[in-house]
Amino acid sequence: MRFDVLTLFPEMYEPLKASILGKAQETKKIDINVINIRDFSKDKHKKVDDTPYGGGAGMVIKPDVVYDAYQSIEEKENAIVIYLSPQGTTLNQKKVEQLAKQNHLILLCGHYEGIDQRVLDEIVDEEISIGDYVLTGGELPSMVLIDSVSRYVEGVLTQESIQEESFSNGLLEYPQYTRPETFLKKKVPEVLLSGHHKNIRKWRLEQAREITKQKRPDLLEKE
Ligand SMILES: C[S@@+](CC[C@H](N)C(=O)[O-])C[C@H]1O[C@@H](n2cnc3c(N)ncnc32)[C@H](O)[C@@H]1O
Repeated sequence: MRFDVLTLFPEMYEPLKASILGKAQETKKIDINVINIRDFSKDKHKKVDDTPYGGGAGMVIKPDVVYDAYQSIEEKENAIVIYLSPQGTTLNQKKVEQLAKQNHLILLCGHYEGIDQRVLDEIVDEEISIGDYVLTGGELPSMVLIDSVSRYVEGVLTQESIQEESFSNGLLEYPQYTRPETFLKKKVPEVLLSGHHKNIRKWRLEQAREITKQKRPDLLEKE
């Protein structure tokens, strides 16, 4: 899976070099290419934004710099262009799994008051939000999208860890335990020590249902 990110703040993407995503890049399961929109400014001061027509607060990112940054991406014929925006469809697990089936995503990050509408109309296929609140920029949302989608790219995680997770079967995940067997006088549930796989599966399903009922009853209503 290839991700091209168009941003004014490439330095924000350092966290993607750590942990599972760092390893996925080293092993070439995913490729993350961060493009600095500012590099495409023709202005001698590298200006990329201007005041909004019609007045109002803040600055708007200019359409030509965004367009030129987008045009610099090679082999983009089959890519989906996503604008991270509070106005988009809210990202959920179903959408994450759909996006993971693509080979190439181009992620456009706004900042300040946003991006001139004309270039959005020209290049964007869909708008995605990470929730009903407003952030200062699309960088964190794009990292959320890259992280969640990459987990479903073949070879990044084991199939088993993806299949049993929260939301994967309409339920939240059962509780997890590891050593020591007793911690602060609390013992690990007996069934998990039994080695009886059928009983363990049954217990986990019951727990998943109970936890979903308590924390997210709305998920059970969708069943
Ligand atoms: C301050 S916001 C602009 C908000 C815009 N003026 C509005 O009211 O819809 C700057 C940028 O942050 C990003 N952004 C902010 N909140 C977001 C969210 N919930 N999901 C995805 N992107 C978001 C978008 O890329 C947006 O262009």
